[in-house]
Amino acid sequence: MKIAIVGTGMVGQTIASKLEELGHEVYMGTRNANETKSRTDVNQMTGKSFSDWHSENKGISVVNFSDLPSDCDVYFNATHGANSIDALNMVGDKLNGRILVDVANPLDFSNGMPPSLFVCNTDSLGEQIQRTFPEAHVVKSFNTMNCYLMVNPSLVQGDHNVFVSGNDESAKNTFTSLLKDIGWGENQILDLGDITSARATEMMLPIWLQLWGKHGHANFNFNINAAN
Ligand SMILES: NC(=O)c1ccc[n+]([C@@H]2O[C@H](COP(=O)([O-])OP(=O)(O)OC[C@H]3O[C@@H](n4cnc5c(N)ncnc54)[C@H](OP(=O)(O)O)[C@@H]3O)[C@@H](O)[C@H]2O)c1
Repeated sequence: MKIAIVGTGMVGQTIASKLEELGHEVYMGTRNANETKSRTDVNQMTGKSFSDWHSENKGISVVNFSDLPSDCDVYFNATHGANSIDALNMVGDKLNGRILVDVANPLDFSNGMPPSLFVCNTDSLGEQIQRTFPEAHVVKSFNTMNCYLMVNPSLVQGDHNVFVSGNDESAKNTFTSLLKDIGWGENQILDLGDITSARATEMMLPIWLQLWGKHGHANFNFNINAAN
């Protein structure tokens, strides 16, 4: 497939590298491609600069948001939640009719750590994105786990789940087949329903952050055990 990753942080890098490894044609969008490609500041989480990452992933084209191809099968939103709509607006109407997998979280760091949610309860970032781009097929997923687990579910032993929310069944089916290619099992993939169910998964972030602090690492995930 032809895939665009909107966002250059650790999540965008991790998803892009994995999808390219799986044989997809991958593009990555940023505000200023020349500036981003020359970044040498080290990302505290990955221990690597963007330019180091890109030199190891030369097959991934890094372009301005507005220059992402208009014919990608799937677009991923991997931008800072508070800036996601601005970034996606720069991608523009090429999102119309396309699958947009939203992995962002509506984290508000303005009062320090831990962050709070800038939208919750009766709305979600996933829904805001769907309302802003009514002709895109928004699929909310991956936001309840660390990015290394997104692309390598075997990092956590035993049963654990990835949640999927979205209005368009065909978009969810396409994303589900990508999940299976990555290594997620059929029984691990939980379709929660339409995009309003993104409220629930985004509101899992406070407990996720608490567990991160408790474990001292991010290799954990949620496992839903339901009676038949
Ligand atoms: N870290 C994880 O494992 C994890 C797990 C689940 C979900 N998430 C969510 O995934 C998303 C990405 O996280 P991340 O840590 O990889 O990256 P991030 O630092 O949250 O976001 C980086 C991206 O946001 C863009 N951006 C920042 N300010 C912008 C602005 N004013 N206008 C337009 N774009 C702007 C940056 O653009 P440039 O490229 O131009 O700099 C960059 O592409 C976040 O929403 C995060 O909450 C993270």
